[in-house]
Amino acid sequence: MVANLSPRVTLAHAPVLTEEVVQYLAVRPGGRYIDCTTGAGGHAAAIMDAGPQGSVLLGLDADPLALEVAAHYLSRFGDSVKLVEANFRELERVCRQNNFVPVHGVLFDLGLSSMQLADEARGFGFQVEAPLDMRFSPSQTLTASEIVNDYEDTKLADVIWRYGEEAASRRIARAIIRSRPVETTTQLASIVSRTLGGQHGRRIHPATRTFQALRIAVNDELEALEVGLEQAVHVLGSGGRLVVISFHSLEDRIVKQFLARESRDCVCPPETPVCTCGHRARLKTLTKRVVSPGPDETAANPRSRSARLRAAEKLTDAA
Ligand SMILES: C[S@@+](CC[C@H](N)C(=O)[O-])C[C@H]1O[C@@H](n2cnc3c(N)ncnc32)[C@H](O)[C@@H]1O
Repeated sequence: MVANLSPRVTLAHAPVLTEEVVQYLAVRPGGRYIDCTTGAGGHAAAIMDAGPQGSVLLGLDADPLALEVAAHYLSRFGDSVKLVEANFRELERVCRQNNFVPVHGVLFDLGLSSMQLADEARGFGFQVEAPLDMRFSPSQTLTASEIVNDYEDTKLADVIWRYGEEAASRRIARAIIRSRPVETTTQLASIVSRTLGGQHGRRIHPATRTFQALRIAVNDELEALEVGLEQAVHVLGSGGRLVVISFHSLEDRIVKQFLARESRDCVCPPETPVCTCGHRARLKTLTKRVVSPGPDETAANPRSRSARLRAAEKLTDAA
């Protein structure tokens, strides 16, 4: 446990693809960087260490407990690092309020941290018994409990299908509804596990997709990502770098499509004879293929296995 922190904060978080983040951000002395998902501050520290002379960093996180850890861990950078509790949907507003535009680089390291997963009060994991919460920020109103206990069956199945890509979403939704009230993570995990016939022969726990779906829905993660990416382009200066690490195909698809669209001049349907959209490229994609961790990193940090990094550079004179 880190000294002087909330007793709930017990585990550090190992940042993934750290060298690649620093490389693709092209970190330089005197640079201005934004970490949209500061977490425990691992990437933020690597950025500051790589560009030490006069570099500054603005770190956002929706989770006040994560920022407690980050503040402790990043204290050696003094005033050069400023931390703000905010959802990255608010990126542009936060940057303008802090006089932090334009910037040389913006980082997103999506999803949740090992600290959040291990926090027994948060309900993100199915290994420990916890209330069904899953909010990144206590200021959010929707909880996993509300989705699990109050949504009617089509709406519940839709969440599990859309955000978990779970083929058995309807069966799971019906089983949940039959078992209501569902109060804890372990109760939910065993309902899903029983519905799918247990762990036999599966690479991942049967409840993994359902838990992912609930977390994404509670935090409206995909919509937040779309808004955050657009705002990142607004706050980047010419030649500034955007780096995004995602952990599942739903996030990665949004990032890939965003970079593809913003790297093209015209986005009219292919059958349109003359361009009517007027769209102008704002980015140049730097990663032709997605960047994944090597075997050494995945052996040292199994959580990194599903990490995928994509990066782009803002074009000169792009809006
Ligand atoms: C994978 S962790 C980041 C770890 C961090 N890069 C490090 O080195 O410790 C993701 C963090 O993003 C935060 N987060 C997720 N979605 C967010 C959003 N829309 N706005 C702000 N923070 C968000 C989570 O609370 C979590 O702390």
